[in-house]
Amino acid sequence: MQIFVDTGLVEEIREAAKLGIIDGVTTNPSLIAKSGRSLKDVIEEICSIIDGPISAEVIAIEKEAMLLEAAELSKIHDNIVIKLPLTEDGIAACKVLSAQGVKTNVTLCFSSNQAILAAKAGATYISPFIGRLDDNGHDGMALIEEIRAVYDIYGYQTQVLAASVRHATHIRDCGLVGADVITAPLKAIKLMYKHPLTENGLKAFLSDYAKSAK
Ligand code: E4P
Repeated sequence: MQIFVDTGLVEEIREAAKLGIIDGVTTNPSLIAKSGRSLKDVIEEICSIIDGPISAEVIAIEKEAMLLEAAELSKIHDNIVIKLPLTEDGIAACKVLSAQGVKTNVTLCFSSNQAILAAKAGATYISPFIGRLDDNGHDGMALIEEIRAVYDIYGYQTQVLAASVRHATHIRDCGLVGADVITAPLKAIKLMYKHPLTENGLKAFLSDYAKSAK
């Protein structure tokens, strides 16, 4: 399973990079806005920190305008993945970009039907939003499972990128149902390291070692 960090804050990305287990980065317009900087500046800096797929989202809502924005974003770095909303225009733009060999991430996916459309358009990644579904009384993990099943039936190559991940249990469950990638806030990724038995065990080893003959 690949692990992407979901943030627009470069200081968090620097901290995440030090962990040595981060495969890529996702951003969205809300995350970029939190940085108080321009999209181009933030994405350029992220690309200088992490050598992996970096998703940058278009703001346009019409196909032709999306394609123009995608062309500008692609100039920033070879690792740029163009993030497109799951709309008729977004899927049409995805089809064009896929044919040009541009990597794409179709975002704001909330159903298996939407995920099928993204795969048919040749998307590199589909981003189903687990947390937002859970928040609204639906079952985010069931959607990941459904998409995995339908993609496997048809052999679609689009990677399932589980997004809107809120905590470490989401990450574990994504692993169990076969998400290809998870993107999560750094805080959730850091919780993956934690187990009280690891902490207590280490404490005991160190205190026993201190008592042993030197
Ligand atoms: C990632 O691509 C999404 O933009 C992100 O995971 C959304 O997460 P949120 O629902 O916590 O805003």
